[in-house]
Amino acid sequence: MQFDLLLDDAAFLLRWLHVVAAMVWVGSAFALLRLDLAMRPRAGDGAAQSLFLNGGAAFRLARTAEADPGEPALHFKFEAYATWFSGFALICLIYCAEPRLFLIDPQLWDAPPWAAITLALALLPGFLLIYEMFFRRTRLEGDAALWALFGLCAALCAGLCLLFAGRAAFPLIGANLATLMAGNIAHALSPAQRRRLAALRRGETPDEAEAKRVAGRALHNQYLVLPVVFFMLSGHAPLLFAGPQRIAVAVLAVAAGFLIRRLFLQRARGLGWNGRLIAAAAVALAALLALAWPKPPEDRRAETAGQAIAQLIRPGPAAAQALIDTKCAYCHAAAPLWPGLSRAPAGLDFTDGAGVAAHAAEILRAAALTSAMPPPGAAPPLDDEDKALLWRALR
Ligand code: HEC
Repeated sequence: MQFDLLLDDAAFLLRWLHVVAAMVWVGSAFALLRLDLAMRPRAGDGAAQSLFLNGGAAFRLARTAEADPGEPALHFKFEAYATWFSGFALICLIYCAEPRLFLIDPQLWDAPPWAAITLALALLPGFLLIYEMFFRRTRLEGDAALWALFGLCAALCAGLCLLFAGRAAFPLIGANLATLMAGNIAHALSPAQRRRLAALRRGETPDEAEAKRVAGRALHNQYLVLPVVFFMLSGHAPLLFAGPQRIAVAVLAVAAGFLIRRLFLQRARGLGWNGRLIAAAAVALAALLALAWPKPPEDRRAETAGQAIAQLIRPGPAAAQALIDTKCAYCHAAAPLWPGLSRAPAGLDFTDGAGVAAHAAEILRAAALTSAMPPPGAAPPLDDEDKALLWRALR
């Protein structure tokens, strides 16, 4: 018990670190690119620069081809590494420590826990390797590269959703995409920036071909940010990750993220709001919502008049209690029977009518409208009749 509580606190502190590090990483990447794209030739000397405000002062940013020996240069790679390592630790702590609660869905892949964990973790370097080989071989640039990146993301979404329970598949998609981003910094951007700084300090001309190549990788990172954040936050949205159309939902989330980022980048380039991009992003989001829209469970066809009448009556929460007692309350209790759980998961205790009535909407969302609960690796999903009963009793 003490150990479980300590682990909860450790996970909370890790989440804190992860979110703060990600804010600094992504915030600086977004801000620096905006400053870069806002550079315009100045009226007097014609040199490209951008004027910006921060705190109480105004600053002028200009591109430079000089660096003094020993002059320190700011960079933001450690924020990226801190984000990746804390995220990796969270994946291990949450999804791999309890694979049957979060990772495994026997209807998709009835894997022994060690195999599911090994594959989930091995995919992180594996997908990075595929990405690196693909872009090193093809040397794609510009929009063709972005389409290819979208294709790789879509394949990843399909692969993970076909292998793992949605609750884990979505954050794992996010972790794989974030690994590409951190990998781009470690393998492409950071070494190139180090070489450029050394050349500038020596007073030599830096390698412009390399600069152009790594700028492509920096752009990939810019496009990947919104999808990554979507997948990392999706745990709060069972309709998205546990609905029957979750592969399409995931692919549309990537598409919407790419389109929205492109929209803002075009604006940062001074091209204004692009109506076609706004329309395309809106269509992607609307399609995502339409696919995730829940279909209320249907009652089985009534065979007798008595059954038909029973289906019309809304019996109230008490009618669901017997079902919840057998299918939910061995986990959702103050002292759960499920090994590894030391208190009611998500703070939801369904052992009495008050707990069930107070959380009726959440129960319907997780168990009647989707199959998020019970965790597919822990128990068989509710059948249609169970779902229909929950719907009638708790709606
Ligand atoms: C084997 C244990 C187990 C069983 C059985 C179980 N749950 Fe859960 N439930 C969990 C865990 C663990 C979480 C916390 C998930 C998280 O933190 O992401 C949870 C979270 C929830 C949530 C919060 C929303 C969400 O999706 O995270 C709801 C609502 C819920 N369960 C309802 C139910 C209902 C209704 C049943 C029965 C039909 C049920 N659970 C059966 C373990 C269980």
